[in-house]
Amino acid sequence: MTDMKVNLGGLELASPVVTASGTFGYGFEYLGAVDYSKIGAVTAKGICLEAWPGNPMPRHCEVPGGLVNAIGLQGTGVEHFLKYTVPWFRQQVKGVPVIANIWGRSVEEYAEVAARMGDVVDAIEMNVSCPNVKAGGHTFGQDPKVLEEVVAAVRKSTKLPLIVKLAPNVPSVVPYVRTCEDAGADALSLINTLPAMVIDIERRKPVLANRTGGLSGRGIHPAAVKLVYDAHAVSKLPILAMGGVAEAKDAIEFLLAGATAVAVGTATFSDPGTAGAVYDGIADYCARHEFSSVAELTGNLLV
Ligand SMILES: Cc1cc2nc3c(=O)[nH]c(=O)nc-3n(C[C@H](O)[C@H](O)[C@H](O)COP(=O)(O)O)c2cc1C
Repeated sequence: MTDMKVNLGGLELASPVVTASGTFGYGFEYLGAVDYSKIGAVTAKGICLEAWPGNPMPRHCEVPGGLVNAIGLQGTGVEHFLKYTVPWFRQQVKGVPVIANIWGRSVEEYAEVAARMGDVVDAIEMNVSCPNVKAGGHTFGQDPKVLEEVVAAVRKSTKLPLIVKLAPNVPSVVPYVRTCEDAGADALSLINTLPAMVIDIERRKPVLANRTGGLSGRGIHPAAVKLVYDAHAVSKLPILAMGGVAEAKDAIEFLLAGATAVAVGTATFSDPGTAGAVYDGIADYCARHEFSSVAELTGNLLV
């Protein structure tokens, strides 16, 4: 029997396979459709201070190799999340940790949402791919100085394991990884969606009401593997890798590139059983290659 436990920056996971934020609702929507014993943690949809409607429709479009979405971080707001969503999930699904994915429009908002989480959730994942309204709308995760400020502020406001979800559309991920380490992050997650656009040529209009969106799914997987490899090469922070995991092979690539755990996102929409199948496939790979523990795969690349 392979030991499938991993430790993601202080968060103990019974399985190295978790769900990706925004692709698994608040965790209970898949009750009856998935085997939660194979899911290490559920990462909830992005949460900010207030309830937020997201972008106008249409806001997603399937493309070859993936999905372009511009949901725009629709969410219930932190109060509802803490009072109803998490307790309801805990009542329905025993023993599966909850990772709260948070976002804000300013450094102060991030810190406040994190502080309000208290110890109701098991870890915080900061989505830094959103615009900073106090800095002309520039994305937090695309300026190392701003990233340092926001990660340090959240670090001060929570004792929970802190995972920073990095933006993939940067020339090099290295300065951002180092910044997170210095500012007190416990782990990294990467990658978020890649900026994308789809045009309806007959109408000569963008397909999404928001015009642009983010690409996820199988097509982004090799780009994500490269970013995980680059991040692991310069940092000891554990990595939660995501981007196009649809079968065990994809997850094992991430682990060998340096990830400690993997998240399944877009693939869940076409097959809710993906995370469970990925778990089984990793266990089978470990048995075939005589690894007694999945943790032995991390960064175990023969180069
Ligand atoms: C519909 C949709 C909604 C998403 N919402 C969020 C979100 O709220 N917060 C976040 O950090 N990432 C969000 N993501 C990004 C995913 O968590 C993940 O990083 C990305 O989709 C890559 O993984 P995948 O290719 O397996 O989907 C969303 C992705 C999709 C497709």
